[in-house]
Amino acid sequence: MLNKFGNKLVVVLICVLVSNGLAVEKPTTPQKTCVTGECHADYSKKNFVHAPVGLGDCDSCHKPMKPEEHTFDFVRKGRDLCEYCHLEQTGKKVVHEPLKTGDCMQCHDPHSSDNKFLLPEKTVASLCNTCHKVTEGFQYLHGPTAVGECTICHESHSADHKGLLVAEHSKLCFSCHVVTQDELTKYEFVHEPAKNDCIGCHNPHGASNPQMIKDFAPYLCYTCHKDIQNAAENSMYQHSVVSEIDGCLKCHTPHASSVKFILKSEPATICMTCHDKPQGITKDEVLPAFTDQIKDKKFLHGPVNDNDCSGCHITHGSKYFRLLAKEYPPIFYAPFSEKNYELCFGCHAKTLVLTAKTNDLTDFRNGNQNLHFLHVNKERRGRTCRACHQTHASNLPKHIRESVPYGIWKLPVGFTKTETGGNCAPGCHLPKDYDREKAVDYSAPQAAKPTQQPSGT
Ligand code: HEC
Ligand code: HEC
Ligand code: HEC
Ligand code: HEC
Ligand code: HEC
Ligand code: HEC
Ligand code: HEC
Ligand code: HEC
Ligand code: HEC
Ligand code: HEC
Ligand code: HEC
Ligand code: HEC
Ligand code: HEC
Repeated sequence: MLNKFGNKLVVVLICVLVSNGLAVEKPTTPQKTCVTGECHADYSKKNFVHAPVGLGDCDSCHKPMKPEEHTFDFVRKGRDLCEYCHLEQTGKKVVHEPLKTGDCMQCHDPHSSDNKFLLPEKTVASLCNTCHKVTEGFQYLHGPTAVGECTICHESHSADHKGLLVAEHSKLCFSCHVVTQDELTKYEFVHEPAKNDCIGCHNPHGASNPQMIKDFAPYLCYTCHKDIQNAAENSMYQHSVVSEIDGCLKCHTPHASSVKFILKSEPATICMTCHDKPQGITKDEVLPAFTDQIKDKKFLHGPVNDNDCSGCHITHGSKYFRLLAKEYPPIFYAPFSEKNYELCFGCHAKTLVLTAKTNDLTDFRNGNQNLHFLHVNKERRGRTCRACHQTHASNLPKHIRESVPYGIWKLPVGFTKTETGGNCAPGCHLPKDYDREKAVDYSAPQAAKPTQQPSGT
């Protein structure tokens, strides 16, 4: 009976010991040392022991209040307790919020820990993650983030750079991305945000998109380029490639290039990656391959020869047909107005069509009769330039075309040039000559030249 009772007492005693973790009574007088086989022994059993604790120097942080009750106060308050030895952890410009508002124990055990740096968590990242969720939901993680290296980019306590960064934005990225840094120093044309705002486009931690881009082009680009978005989405004539996913990147590089406007290569070369073959606009309308239009042609129009497609086309979208930069009638006939030919007159003198008589404004004249004026400058059914000229390239001098689409018919132009004039045998009228020096007389009706008369008139 007694024995039994005694056993029970032992069990109760053990329970108390286990639940308190204390094997002995608290001392009520000052002790030589606080760490003995029975007291506070667990501090030194962890992998990492804080130096003063290891030395048994409990006084560096604790001082007795009422020895008889074994109560203690701290020798200093808050961060000062630690900063007494660990000088100024909050001395830099940007201070981590927890160090502003709280003490060091949010992230460190003052005595000892199984984890490096006396951290309460196994790794630095898992500590950070207790308060931050910077990688949640991302399919792609940045190399250093994926392996928990938060502190390769961030200071834990305070930093001289925004965002607690160890270095200024782009310098930080360049410290590992030497290839990108190389691009930016090597190439003449650098995209403005790539100079100092990598995170304008990349999420530094990870993203749902490859390459950690915040969004796919064009949406990524539209966040800053509203004007391009407007051209791409609201223009009367649109270029589908611009609004396609990754479309911008078919023509531009995101960072830098040796070509103006950070283009991937010379503009014409880029255009030819698609316009070397016919491209369908609608089911019924197919654009001819651009390369076929210039292949083996004797004469390339100046800007085409210079690979300057932008001289005439706005790639992102235009209010003019065929993405033209300025007005140019899409048709064979148009009532004359200067405005109709803004495109051509951007580079050529408009005077060539403005006066009926001239001796020098154009070579397309019969004596002093201006044949440009005659054909183009009419209130009704004025011929547009395309009636006679091929815009990109031609085998005939002065960019005269061999034929012009007229409904279903390829209407021939039949041009030959002479020293002082020329001869046309078009599908429009009887063959005619013009001569600048000895004007051909058309006052009397002329006989046709049957051999050059096109069929189907
Ligand atoms: C670097 C300062 C520092 C040193 C050195 C230090 N302590 Fe502490 N101790 C603290 C702080 C701070 C707390 C409060 C912990 C908290 O709030 O989480 C604490 C709390 C305690 C507690 C309360 C229970 C606990 O663990 O939270 C005991 C017991 C204790 N210390 C014993 C000791 C002993 C024994 C030593 C010497 C071997 C010692 N401390 C050395 C800073 C220190
Ligand atoms: C009496 C001086 C002193 C005080 C007070 C002190 N420490 Fe220390 N602490 C040291 C020494 C010494 C080291 C070892 C330094 C070394 O290894 O370079 C150290 C190391 C550390 C380490 C690094 C541990 C590691 O594994 O590398 C951390 C973290 C740390 N202390 C946190 C604190 C915190 C938090 C406080 C306040 C609760 C504090 N210290 C107060 C003296 C002190
Ligand atoms: C938000 C969490 C956090 C807080 C709060 C914090 N630390 Fe740290 N501390 C860390 C992390 C993480 C490391 C280890 C990685 C590193 O070196 O930054 C560390 C490392 C240390 C180290 C060792 C490395 C070194 O810099 O010498 C010391 C000492 C230290 N902290 C002291 C302190 C002191 C003192 C305070 C309070 C003033 C404090 N810490 C507050 C997270 C914190
Ligand atoms: C105890 C909670 C806590 C822990 C642990 C913690 N932080 Fe913070 N951190 C905060 C708070 C609170 C803020 C301020 C509010 C915010 O931006 O979310 C902050 C802000 C930040 C900021 C933004 C600073 C700025 O000025 O823009 C960065 C970067 C940061 N923490 C990184 C870290 C890293 C890295 C770790 C791990 C070493 C970490 N934090 C651990 C609480 C914590
Ligand atoms: C490759 C460098 C790098 C790594 C690694 C990194 N960060 Fe960041 N982090 C940044 C940059 C850059 C910013 C943006 C800072 C700014 O300008 O505000 C940032 C911002 C933050 C912010 C504040 C804004 C936000 O996004 O919420 C927090 C919190 C943060 N990081 C926590 C972490 C944590 C936690 C880790 C580790 C899991 C980590 N970072 C790893 C570079 C990095
Ligand atoms: C500590 C080194 C380090 C720093 C600093 C760093 N990165 Fe990285 N980054 C990496 C590693 C490693 C990879 C993974 C490379 C791989 O998978 O081939 C990577 C991948 C990337 C990728 C994906 C493309 C690729 O090559 O896989 C981008 C984009 C990127 N980083 C941007 C940034 C930006 C922006 C910054 C600055 C905020 C930055 N990085 C800072 C190391 C770093
Ligand atoms: C205007 C947005 C933008 C900016 C700013 C930007 N990037 Fe990028 N970056 C991208 C896009 C988009 C890609 C993907 C390219 C692709 O898929 O062809 C990319 C790709 C990368 C890659 C993968 C390798 C490569 O070149 O394709 C790295 C690394 C990278 N960026 C780092 C950086 C760094 C470092 C900075 C700052 C100096 C930076 N980026 C600034 C948009 C940007
Ligand atoms: C964070 C804002 C930002 C983002 C995102 C951005 N850009 Fe830019 N971009 C600029 C700024 C700023 C300039 C320089 C000023 C200007 O021309 O508007 C610029 C200029 C350009 C230029 C003209 C370069 C020159 O040499 O004149 C091109 C082309 C360009 N961006 C293309 C893009 C593409 C393509 C994307 C998407 C992959 C993109 N941008 C995303 C800010 C941005
Ligand atoms: C088919 C090729 C092509 C595509 C696709 C393309 N661009 Fe361009 N972009 C050019 C060319 C060529 C220029 C040179 C100037 C011009 O022709 O207007 C240019 C110039 C620019 C400029 C600087 C001049 C200006 O007009 O402001 C910006 C900014 C620009 N592009 C952004 C974008 C963005 C954003 C996208 C995607 C939404 C995009 N581009 C898609 C070919 C393209
Ligand atoms: C990635 C393929 C691609 C590239 C690169 C490209 N285009 Fe196009 N382009 C097309 C397609 C497809 C069409 C058919 C109409 C459409 O879908 O917008 C087209 C149509 C056109 C049209 C006729 C538009 C109309 O509505 O009649 C012009 C003009 C044009 N492109 C000029 C250019 C120029 C100039 C460049 C180079 C700066 C270029 N394209 C680069 C694919 C491309
Ligand atoms: C001198 C002005 C001018 C230049 C320079 C120019 N184009 Fe054109 N382009 C036009 C005109 C005008 C049309 C409409 C043709 C028509 O319907 O008569 C056109 C039409 C097109 C078309 C639609 C298919 C077609 O032939 O109708 C494509 C594609 C095209 N151009 C591509 C280019 C490319 C690529 C370059 C640069 C190598 C370029 N253009 C340079 C004026 C020009
Ligand atoms: C961006 C400037 C530019 C635009 C726009 C332009 N041209 Fe030209 N054009 C030139 C240059 C430069 C030459 C001289 C080189 C050559 O013979 O192609 C030229 C030459 C010509 C010639 C031959 C002149 C000669 O004396 O040999 C004709 C014809 C011509 N263009 C017609 C047109 C027509 C029609 C248009 C409108 C559809 C037009 N051009 C739009 C720049 C332009
Ligand atoms: C009826 C046919 C025809 C039409 C329509 C026409 N041209 Fe011409 N153009 C010619 C001929 C033929 C020549 C060559 C004259 C010569 O050198 O003998 C020429 C020459 C030119 C020249 C070279 C300089 C000169 O005047 O001799 C330019 C520039 C030119 N045309 C621009 C245009 C423009 C712009 C338009 C539309 C506004 C246009 N042409 C309409 C037939 C035409």
